[in-house]
Amino acid sequence: MEGLATGFAYRDGALMAEGVPLERIAAEVGTPVYVYAANAMRARYRALAEAFEGQDALVCYAVKANGNLAVLRLFADLGAGADAVSGGEVTRALRAGVPPERIVYAGVAKTDDEIRLALEAGILQFNAESVAEVERLSAVARGMGRMAPVALRVNPDVSAGGHDKISTGRRGDKFGIAIEEAPAVFRHADALPGVRCRGVHLHVGSQIQDAAPLAAAYAKGVDLFRGLRAAGHGLDTLDLGGGIGVRYRDEAPFDLEGLAAVVARLTEGLGCRLLFEPGRFLVAEAGVLLSKVIFVKETDGRRFLVLDAGMQTLVRPAMYGAWHGVRPVVERPDAGLLPTDVVGPICESSDVFGRDRMLPPLDRDDLVVLETAGAYGAVMASAYNSRVGVAEVLVDGDRFAVIRPPLSIEAQMAQERMPAWLEAGLEAGLGATA
Ligand SMILES: Cc1ncc(COP(=O)(O)O)c(C=O)c1O
Repeated sequence: MEGLATGFAYRDGALMAEGVPLERIAAEVGTPVYVYAANAMRARYRALAEAFEGQDALVCYAVKANGNLAVLRLFADLGAGADAVSGGEVTRALRAGVPPERIVYAGVAKTDDEIRLALEAGILQFNAESVAEVERLSAVARGMGRMAPVALRVNPDVSAGGHDKISTGRRGDKFGIAIEEAPAVFRHADALPGVRCRGVHLHVGSQIQDAAPLAAAYAKGVDLFRGLRAAGHGLDTLDLGGGIGVRYRDEAPFDLEGLAAVVARLTEGLGCRLLFEPGRFLVAEAGVLLSKVIFVKETDGRRFLVLDAGMQTLVRPAMYGAWHGVRPVVERPDAGLLPTDVVGPICESSDVFGRDRMLPPLDRDDLVVLETAGAYGAVMASAYNSRVGVAEVLVDGDRFAVIRPPLSIEAQMAQERMPAWLEAGLEAGLGATA
């Protein structure tokens, strides 16, 4: 088995999140539950901040990776900004205490209400993705007597990212404006009232293992930035997006220092603020999904471990074919390993976490973790099949807190409403067919 991520380790044969045994969390909170290690998150942030030390850089944590208010507060306390992709994420970042002047807001579809909300808050910049959006920004800002600070998201036509579905910077992707069209769009935008063009933005994909495609995209962004400045645009921010990859299995650690050196070389003398939008890098390895075995089923020569977590709790395997390590919470060093299919409870054949995983002979009620689940896990969870809504716990040294309680089926149904005519029909005995 590959090594454990920082923040998680066996002590006396039991898996711990920092100073807290996972068995204790399961007993007190129930399962399935996401467990995050606060100091592992902090360590990631510091590693990034140190790599870019000496450069005028702001790390805007990508809220979409894990938008829990406690996680946002943790990064805000370290000096991070936030990268939001909806009015809801802007609201979350503000509520968690991220200062508005550290919030950037991207996303291909911003409604007038979302634009208004962000303008009222006074965010650092809108990362605009189309001419139509820039024109809406102008109209809404003018109506409010405000100026919208705008960076244009360009598509540099660089292929990057760990999966076709998380590559965003190739020709034909829906994000941004083709880089060749950017000068004309900047001229148009600069002439619009209510808009102040302040920067260039790019983000080419996620789970990028190698600095080379990032460097290629950055180089194109810097060239454009210099050209626009030379053409008289008063730009002061260059947003280089997120995308730094993490270790799910046996990937080499990302070469942060190498990337930072490339950035320093490319942006030498540029005299602007650099923005970064890492999400996965800061949180993925600092989280596990803690789950319980409901049944062990042996049939047709296969051994299935059926968990209480499923694709509704962690959708990445079903959606991206993603790999998550599976590990028992109680170590069984002397037990032999058996090829095991690890599956969830959902009535879908895609509800599979892994096939032929070599695991000790686990049994009903045993606990396991799905590793590297801190990013794009809880945020994508649903209550499909009317399962309990996902819970989250933050561990910080020897203490832990529930940062999202499980949402019971009663609480879920309480959010639904019965139309008066259906209720009346039932009371009058209508609708009975027999
Ligand atoms: C605009 C933007 N910025 C940042 C990110 C964060 O990416 P990652 O989690 O790979 O760092 C994303 C994610 O897709 C994104 O769309």
